Amino acid sequence: MKFLIINGPNLNMLGVREPGVYGGESYEQLCQRLKAYAAAHGAEADCVQSNYEGAVIDAIHGANGVYDAIIINPGAFTHYSYAILDALKSVRVPAIEVHISNVHQREEFRHKSVTAAACVGQICGLGFYGYEAAMSYFLSGTLCRGAQI
Ligand code: DQA
Repeated sequence: MKFLIINGPNLNMLGVREPGVYGGESYEQLCQRLKAYAAAHGAEADCVQSNYEGAVIDAIHGANGVYDAIIINPGAFTHYSYAILDALKSVRVPAIEVHISNVHQREEFRHKSVTAAACVGQICGLGFYGYEAAMSYFLSGTLCRGAQI
């Protein structure tokens, strides 16, 4: 199974950015961990990160026919990007949305995701483990096809 792991704006600042919220590990450490997890499970993971909405959209489009599943943390785009919602709907690749922090314990504007509607499901508050949980779900083969957009 081939995973595309997409991280949106400011996630390149992991380890530096609000460590009390996002932890002390860097984006590079996150990618290494996820690639190792995928390899240990007979899968492959490619990681992309961008601070630009259009680049996130291009990465989603590029996954069509290339990757089996997308794991996406759209960062703050989660809360207002209808363009990323539409991009996720435009490809035949199932996605899970992941947030490192528990967005529901934070400011009101973070409680709403406009992008999760195009995803199989959403995981939040589990730190870096959330990305592995998403991979584990896809690897289990229990994807509910009816839930796929
Ligand atoms: C985040 C939560 C978002 O609200 C925030 O804008 C981020 C990171 C998370 O992983 O917890 O950039 O997606």
